[in-house]
Amino acid sequence: MCPPEHFTVDYAINPWMDTSVPVDSGLALKQWAILRDTLTDLGHAVHVIDAKPELPDMVYAANGAFSVDGTVYGARFRYPQRVGEAAEHRKFYESTVNWTTKQGDSVNEGEGDFAYLPAAYGGMILAGHGFRTEPAAHLEAQEILGRPVISLQLVDPAFYHLDTALAALDDRHITYYPEAFSEASRRVLRQLFPDAVIADRGDAEAFGLNLVSDGRHVILNTEARAMGEKVRAHGYQPVHVELGELKRGGGSVKCVVAELRG
Ligand code: ARG
Repeated sequence: MCPPEHFTVDYAINPWMDTSVPVDSGLALKQWAILRDTLTDLGHAVHVIDAKPELPDMVYAANGAFSVDGTVYGARFRYPQRVGEAAEHRKFYESTVNWTTKQGDSVNEGEGDFAYLPAAYGGMILAGHGFRTEPAAHLEAQEILGRPVISLQLVDPAFYHLDTALAALDDRHITYYPEAFSEASRRVLRQLFPDAVIADRGDAEAFGLNLVSDGRHVILNTEARAMGEKVRAHGYQPVHVELGELKRGGGSVKCVVAELRG
């Protein structure tokens, strides 16, 4: 995770960002700290990387890389405002966790567009394209990480990253908002995950799919109450955290947590 010490909305690269409303960075920092404490209270170790003043979106740490089995596929950001974040994440993986980092040539925004299901079909990657990550990055991820990659096309600009429209609930189950995907990609998802928890537009707009799950606890923001009830009905325990200030940049719980898969 990366604290929102320099978080602002001074440019708009997704439909949620409104540069005319100033961000309350103190509030953002407070909300972020509660999420970090929630994760540690649930028994998860959290590493914190330093925020850089020139990189206001760095708080969305999930976009910096995607790791599977200790191999890290580094990000290459779509917009110039975020390009510098990739090197900060690479430094972290190489010096703090000591994992091999591999960089490809294609635009990809890390866990923003990649999800991993270790127990589905022996280890499967779901990957989004359409707004940020290029389809060519899906091929690179497959070659670098040695897991089958299923490409899914995102079609609604409000849900510009895969992690705004789909989430892994545990090692083999997912939840998603079908309308965020092309017809054909919806068919693929129905075929692979007939037992998925289906979210509706309200859930997606509340960033209810932008969740972090440890397989038991599902952490989601307080606005996503209905989504919390949906996952509860499927046997998971919803844990709500207030993260309203970070929604102003177009992200929520999942966007600010990069998961380290060793
Ligand atoms: N302002 C950031 C951007 O548009 C938000 C990124 C949200 N992260 C995510 N994983 N969806 O790039």
